[in-house]
Amino acid sequence: MTLEFRLATGAADAVDTPCAVVGVFQGGPLPPAAAAIDAASGGVLKRLADSGDLRGKARSSLWLYHLAGVKAERVLVVGLGDQANFGAAQFSLAAQTAAQQLARAPLAAATTWLGELDVAGRDAPWRARVLALAFDHAAYRFKLVGKGKQSSTPKLARLDIVADAAAQAGLDQAAGIAKGVEFARELGNLPPNICTPAYLAERARQLAEAHEGVTLDVLEPEKMRELGMGALLAVGSGSMHPPRLIVLRWQGGGDAKPHALVGKGVTFDSGGINIKPSPGMEEMKFDMCGGAGVLGTFLAAVELKLPLNLVCVVPSAENMPGGESYRPSDVLTTLSGLTVEVLNTDAEGRLILCDALSYVQRFEPQTIIDVATLTGACVVALGKHASGLMSADDELAGQLLAAGEDAMDRAWRLPLWDDYQSALESGNADVANIGGKYGGAITAGCFLSRFTEGYRWAHLDIAGTAWGEGRKALATGRPVGLLTQYLIGKAGAGDQGPGTGNK
Ligand code: BES
Ligand code: MN
Ligand code: ZN
Repeated sequence: MTLEFRLATGAADAVDTPCAVVGVFQGGPLPPAAAAIDAASGGVLKRLADSGDLRGKARSSLWLYHLAGVKAERVLVVGLGDQANFGAAQFSLAAQTAAQQLARAPLAAATTWLGELDVAGRDAPWRARVLALAFDHAAYRFKLVGKGKQSSTPKLARLDIVADAAAQAGLDQAAGIAKGVEFARELGNLPPNICTPAYLAERARQLAEAHEGVTLDVLEPEKMRELGMGALLAVGSGSMHPPRLIVLRWQGGGDAKPHALVGKGVTFDSGGINIKPSPGMEEMKFDMCGGAGVLGTFLAAVELKLPLNLVCVVPSAENMPGGESYRPSDVLTTLSGLTVEVLNTDAEGRLILCDALSYVQRFEPQTIIDVATLTGACVVALGKHASGLMSADDELAGQLLAAGEDAMDRAWRLPLWDDYQSALESGNADVANIGGKYGGAITAGCFLSRFTEGYRWAHLDIAGTAWGEGRKALATGRPVGLLTQYLIGKAGAGDQGPGTGNK
């Protein structure tokens, strides 16, 4: 269940709430909500500022309880950093800081005044949407499998956002996006013995049945063989869980050509015969996060009833070593007719994607965007903050970058110049499935480009952004925010134009 959020009114000192969330700048004047609490409490915030307990630094926060003169049971004061430096990224960070604090507190409801803060170039619906999604994200709990694993502290269930009525449009968008993000995270977090290709197909079937206007087609291996999807079949051949190709369609836009989303759905990537090293292999349950991301985006678009047509394709397979596995030096015939020499079975994502990218062309899409946890090289290049964006289409790339800035789910573009293509030369087939030592994220993108010729296409490598770090890492739900924002722009509803700043 996603968080419930609604608009509210009232002064920060006068609203009866379990928790009032307000912000303060570092060394700056108190914003109106903080000033109201300060005045009502006889100057508590100013005294705390003077003593150095309340400094207003970004990422910091301070809990205050039962302040005399203030109706709220608790006040959470969040640091906003320097006022001069306060922009979209800083607002978003303050929202996350507050949300993380609240998620750890025994609270079912809270009220925030952060939505009243001015953010250059952003309006009230944007601020409300960012707040709602940040709090929803932090309130998410993965339902752990096991005895005694359910948490007993109450979970934040409702957030009141103080803002003027115009902000409602942002909250309406947030409600749909939150559902898509939650769906993507839930699928990503599931263990790979449960989340198999057939399981993903089953969840897509439930999604289709629950929403009018959605149709589903699931291709099984027999059909793949008939069509000639030699690459997807090869990747799945070593697993006891046979591959699926999931095809969801949403007809919200009459007879317009659809936008196509394609997502890598490798439910576990052991590397195959080129087996991965042991440390960290468990993270490869997240290797279906591209698929989960496009399914989540699809759900968000349907929940928002966007007036456009969408086709969402998820090739799903498990990459395992075994007697029936594909092997290095195999030559595969793909659905496109191009042959691929397998030089590494661990470069499997591009193989399942190439057949899906060819398949989706039968729907005559106006654009194709694929999403994949494709390369470790992308994580080396960009870390875990930006997704890698590759496209030969400057306009499409620009729109996706802008949507990422708007949604605070950012991507950074890498070049797809022809110079890189020669790395994929093969002595035994039309193309090899790996490049050389360098530029691994880009050569992977180049491989995909061979299968999208003549189409407006972009590739998002989410290897760094799809999940967090460490033993307790969770799927992030990225890039559902970016992609849904992009589609909202396409639908012409609530498009806020290009974002600003790269801080
Ligand atoms: N799923 C991995 C990429 C990956 C690695 C994502 C680490 C997130 C974290 C992908 O299938 C893979 O194994 N890629 C190889 C490609 C190489 C063999 C050319 C890689 O990145 O090492
Ligand atoms: Mn791999
Ligand atoms: Zn993989």
